[in-house]
Amino acid sequence: MTRHRTQVAIIGSGPAGLLLGQLLAKFGIDAIILDRVDKDYILGRVRAGVLEGGTVATLEKAGVADRLHREGLPHDGFAIAFDNRLERVDIEKYAGKKVMVYGQTEVTRDLMAAREAAGALTVYDAADAQPRDYDTDRPFVSFTKDGVEHRIDCDFIAGCDGFHGPSRKSVPDGAIAEYERVYPFGWLGILADVPPVSDELIYANHPEGFALCSMRSKTRSRYYVQCALDDKIEDWSDARFWEHLKRRLPEESLATLTEGPSFEKSIAPLRSFVAEPMRFGRLFLVGDAAHIVPPTGAKGLNLAVSDVHYLYSGLQEHYGEGSDAGLDAYSAKALARVWKSVRFSWWMTTMLHRFPDTEAFGQRIQEAELDYLFSSEAAMTTIAENYVGLPF
Ligand code: FAD
Ligand code: DHB
Repeated sequence: MTRHRTQVAIIGSGPAGLLLGQLLAKFGIDAIILDRVDKDYILGRVRAGVLEGGTVATLEKAGVADRLHREGLPHDGFAIAFDNRLERVDIEKYAGKKVMVYGQTEVTRDLMAAREAAGALTVYDAADAQPRDYDTDRPFVSFTKDGVEHRIDCDFIAGCDGFHGPSRKSVPDGAIAEYERVYPFGWLGILADVPPVSDELIYANHPEGFALCSMRSKTRSRYYVQCALDDKIEDWSDARFWEHLKRRLPEESLATLTEGPSFEKSIAPLRSFVAEPMRFGRLFLVGDAAHIVPPTGAKGLNLAVSDVHYLYSGLQEHYGEGSDAGLDAYSAKALARVWKSVRFSWWMTTMLHRFPDTEAFGQRIQEAELDYLFSSEAAMTTIAENYVGLPF
């Protein structure tokens, strides 16, 4: 058994764990990060693409926003297509803020580079990680690496290990409440080195199913179509993907759509999930370990960042001022913001997808809602305010 000691043991080297580690390091608080997989595996996962202003500000505070500002694409609006119309939500006009299009992969790469430059310890390929004794004042994390058992003694454990990680699962059933909705469809996403169909994102409602046109740069597109839950990647040739995408976009967009070979293709199921509370003694759940939103509102990564903000502030108060007020308020503060994003993501998902059981009636209701949205200043303000992110 090899023993280590740190102030905060972080399980999970996704954006939540890495960002927390980076903010703590800036404040002189020591942390060790563990991940089940290796660095290349983590960087190979293609996920979110839209950063709220609050997320950008937090990355700036962590000192990892230089490349984001050089290469990211600031957007001051996005479009919704429905009923062969293409309508714009002017987020700058209605919410006074922009969002930044910059991939989660790049955020993660920047955070990993900063951590390596600071010489902080991340253990990759750590098997069987388990948070332990967090209901006492001597918590620790156990794990195995290359057949050797390790133990990290610490003051606090941050469970940043995603939806399937061990942290939330370690909590006894009676101590946690879980709220869940599983949607009857998934998203098939591709990356292709073709110029994006438009300078701004297009979210499309169509009787055959949802589609989303996003991007990673001016030469790289990220496109999604709603698919069946039991669809396999092999069912979706590039030709089939482009055919479905084109059918779901309004005519006026087709002239600027460039097709090309995909170099990444994946299917993600859609789910809403919240675990309450987000703190158990000296264990704190952060990001996807505590909650999942369907991707339609572009909120998953941004929620992980607001959790990190609340937890980091609490830890800073604990070590800097000897006050536990921030840590004691963590779960309630984080959950208040989480539930508002869960609601927005559920609403966007409900308004834009084809649901198997609602038939033509459901489609007409969605079109009426969208028509109303674009005729009402109040509704525009609501969608814009939520899309740019509620304050934290
Ligand atoms: P994660 O990024 O999941 O990181 C958790 C880390 O914990 C991982 O590195 C994992 O390897 C590690 N871990 C897990 N188990 C263990 C263990 N036993 N021991 C040690 N480490 C462990 N959001 C959007 O806004 N838009 C999108 O398009 C979008 N697409 C997505 C597609 C998929 C397939 C998924 C799963 C999520 C998607 N999301 C999207 C959501 C967004 O990516 C997440 O909200 C975000 O990654 C949350 O960050 P996190 O650090 O909390 O969790
Ligand atoms: C992307 C993903 C989303 O879920 C979204 O709402 C917007 C953009 C993306 O991957 O680019």
